[in-house]
Amino acid sequence: MKTIFSGVQPSGNLHIGNYIGALRQWVNVQEGNDALFCIVDLHAITVPQDPKALREKVLEVAALYLACGIDPKKAHIFIQSENPDHSYLAWILNTITPFGQLQRMTQFKEKSQKHEENLGLFDYPVLMASDILLYQTDEVPVGEDQKQHIELTRDLAERFNKRFGETFKLPNPVIQSQTARIMSLQNPASKMSKSDNNPLGTINLLDTEEQIREKIKKAVTDSNSKVSKDHGSEAIVNLLTIYSAFKGISFNKAQDEMEGKAYSELKNSITEVVLETLLPIREKYEEIRKDEKALRDILDEGREYAISKSSKTLLDVKQKVGLI
Ligand code: AMP
Ligand code: TRP
Repeated sequence: MKTIFSGVQPSGNLHIGNYIGALRQWVNVQEGNDALFCIVDLHAITVPQDPKALREKVLEVAALYLACGIDPKKAHIFIQSENPDHSYLAWILNTITPFGQLQRMTQFKEKSQKHEENLGLFDYPVLMASDILLYQTDEVPVGEDQKQHIELTRDLAERFNKRFGETFKLPNPVIQSQTARIMSLQNPASKMSKSDNNPLGTINLLDTEEQIREKIKKAVTDSNSKVSKDHGSEAIVNLLTIYSAFKGISFNKAQDEMEGKAYSELKNSITEVVLETLLPIREKYEEIRKDEKALRDILDEGREYAISKSSKTLLDVKQKVGLI
């Protein structure tokens, strides 16, 4: 049995990039493994958040995990800030993290251009390493953009093990290569992102049917009018990727199926498969969100389970470092 750990920040709206890159993979691995899925609120506050909205978002994301198919009988869902071991271990890992390595993190460079710099933003990857290492994680299912952070996690684990003796397991990223990066529907050169200023660029998991129809209809294409393997622009490749992901077929199969079809036809087919998946998720979400007590119970169970595992690792770490 493998230990699987992953998380999403409760900031902005969860979108189909999060679903395809992360959540859908989680659902597939929860069976037969020891799976923990975290709502990483301490990461979210590295950029300014409205406190009231943040509290609400945490519950929204938890309910969305469930609505997307995470089964609390198979996996554990918990809120990062409710397990203090995460920030404790992060502090210890800080003391073995080279400054230069954090300065090279792509996400830090991007985010510190968009937001006012702060130490939390700089230290973000160390907290993420601590999330993963506390549970002796084997696999971390994520989108492509998180690969660099998992490499840092492995480096820190190796460095700690070398200095203090075998303590942490080295985790592996699990990235679905074909769908690891879903791009914006308005700007196919940039990643579909929660912080996109143009709302037409992202399809959110809780969008209404009308919004989804409109966003796909207005998605940018290119100067051609039909799908052709001879001119695979970024925009069309992205649309075909979304189609293949929601249809559950390979990219090549989607391309064969759509070859020679008008872009309008491609968009109609995408709309159909996306709605088929997202409308039931929205319905389930609304049902789950109505019963806050049940949701809270699931998060309480998750927290207790998480602490029962992380406390063992943290105790070992403290002893090795000389804090006990
Ligand atoms: P974030 O939105 O940064 O909290 O990311 C949560 C998870 O979704 C991470 O595993 C990301 O790698 C994944 N993810 C975010 N955006 C995308 C995207 N556009 N395409 C694929 N995966 C994504
Ligand atoms: N940094 C991740 C993101 O932006 C979220 C995250 C925090 C995470 N801790 C994690 C993902 C641990 C996987 C494992 O998407």
